[in-house]
Amino acid sequence: MAEKSRIGVTGLAVMGANLARNMARRGFPVAVHNRTTAKTTEFMKDYGDEGAFTGTESLQEFVDALETPRKIVVMVKAGKPVDAVIDELAPLLDRGDIIIDAGNSHFPDTDRRAAYCEERGLRFMGIGVSGGEEGALNGPSIMPGGPQEAYGEVEEILTAIAADVDGTPCCTHVGPGGAGHYVKMVHNGIEYADIQLIAEAYDLLTHVAGLSAPEIGKIFEEWNTGDLESFLIEITGIVLAKTDERTGKPLVDVIVDQAEQKGTGRWTAIDALDLGVPLTGITEAVFARTLSNLRDERREASTTLGGPTPGSGANRDELVEDIRQALYASKVVAYAQGFAQMRAASRANDWDLDLGAMARIWRGGCIIRAQFLNRITEAYESHPDLDNLLMVPYFTEAVANAQDAWRRVVVTATEQGVAIPAFSSSLSYYDGYRRERGPANLIQGLRDYFGAHTYARTDADGKFHTRWSQDGSEVAAG
Ligand code: 6PG
Repeated sequence: MAEKSRIGVTGLAVMGANLARNMARRGFPVAVHNRTTAKTTEFMKDYGDEGAFTGTESLQEFVDALETPRKIVVMVKAGKPVDAVIDELAPLLDRGDIIIDAGNSHFPDTDRRAAYCEERGLRFMGIGVSGGEEGALNGPSIMPGGPQEAYGEVEEILTAIAADVDGTPCCTHVGPGGAGHYVKMVHNGIEYADIQLIAEAYDLLTHVAGLSAPEIGKIFEEWNTGDLESFLIEITGIVLAKTDERTGKPLVDVIVDQAEQKGTGRWTAIDALDLGVPLTGITEAVFARTLSNLRDERREASTTLGGPTPGSGANRDELVEDIRQALYASKVVAYAQGFAQMRAASRANDWDLDLGAMARIWRGGCIIRAQFLNRITEAYESHPDLDNLLMVPYFTEAVANAQDAWRRVVVTATEQGVAIPAFSSSLSYYDGYRRERGPANLIQGLRDYFGAHTYARTDADGKFHTRWSQDGSEVAAG
C-alpha cells in the first residue's frame, strides 16, 4: 500500500497548485484533488516529479490517501464553493480531522464554518495566505486562525512553506475562529490604502510635475532605496517602466483607468464602521476604486464641471520630495488605522491578537511586505497596549518631520484640482486625532436641539438637555 500523504490540497487552480508544489518541494508528501479530474491529471503531468504527490480522482480516494488526523487544504473560490466542498468532505472524514480554508474567505463565514465542523467532530482552520501566485509557490505570508491544537498539527508544514525573514518564518498562530481571515482581510485593506497612495503620488507626478511614466518609474525605483522600501513601491517602478509592445507607449498609458476589487477592502471598511474605528485611508481607497468605475459619468462630468486644470508651476524637485514625504506620512496613518482596527476587533472577539507578531509575519512573502514593518513590531514589543502607532516616538517623529511637506502636497493638489482622497483624509485624521478639543460639541448641541439626544458638560457629570424651543432652560436628563 502506498505511503499516506501528510497533507492534501483540493482545488488546483494556480494558488492551490502552487501551495501543493511548495509543500512537496519542501519534502512533505501531498495528495492532490480537483473537482474536475482533468485538472489533477494536468497537474500530475506538469509537476508530478517535483515531489511526493498522490493524484486522486474522487474525494473518497483523496481522503483515503491521507494520514490521520487528516489535514486538508481547501483552495477554492471564496463563498459558496467553500461550503460546497466542506459539505462533501464532512461525511467522509473522521473525528479530529482538520479542514483548512486557505482562500480569501470573509471572517464571519469562517466562524460559521468552524461551528459547523465542530458540531461534526471536525476541526476547522481559516488561514490567510498572501503573496499571490509567486508567494504561494516560493514562500507566502501565512495567517492561520483556528484552534491552537489544530495549528500544532500543521505548524511544521506551514512554517516550512512560509517566507522567511532573518530566519523567522512569516507564519504564526493568529487566534481562534475567524481571526486568521480577519487579519488577512485587514492586510488586504492596508494593501488597498498603500496602492491608492501610490496612485495619488503617480497622479501628482504626472499632472502637476509633468513627468512621464518611465520618469516616474525611476523616481519609485529611487524611493525604494529609502524609508518607503517595499514590494509595492518596487513593482510600481517596474510597471511604470514597461513599454507597450503594440503601441510603443508606456503600458500604463494604455490601461483603462478603472480598478476592480474582489471584496476584502470593502469588508475591512464595513467592519471598521461596525466597530466604530476611524479607518479613513482604507475606506477612501475603496471609494476611489468605485469612483474609478463611474467611467461614463466621469467622461460627461469632465466636460461639464469646472475646476483648475493641473499643470506645472511648482518646483519639480521640491515637489517630488514633498510627495515622497506625504506618501510616507499617509502610509504611517493607514497602518496606524489598520492596526487600531485589529486591536478593536481583538478586544471585541477575545482573540488576544499579538499585533507585533502580525507585523512580523507581514515582513516577507505578502503584498504589503516592507522594511517599515520592523518598526511596527518594535513598537508593539515596547508598548504592547499601544492605542495608536502614531504615539510611539519613531512614528511621532516620522510624521512630524514629514508634515510640512504633507501639508504642501495637499494644498498644491487641492489648488490644482487633483483628487487626493487618501493623502488628504490621512492628514485630516492626523489633525483630528491630535486635537484635544474638536468640534463635536456643536454636533451634540444640534442633536439635542432636534432630537433631545442630550449632551455631556465639560464642567459637570451626567447628561443634560436644553429645552431649546420652550423656555431655553437646561434640565438634567435621565
Ligand atoms: C494577497 C493579495 C490577494 C489578492 C487580492 C486582490 O495578499 O496575496 O491581497 O489576496 O491579490 O485579493 O484584491 P482585489 O482584487 O480586491 O484588489
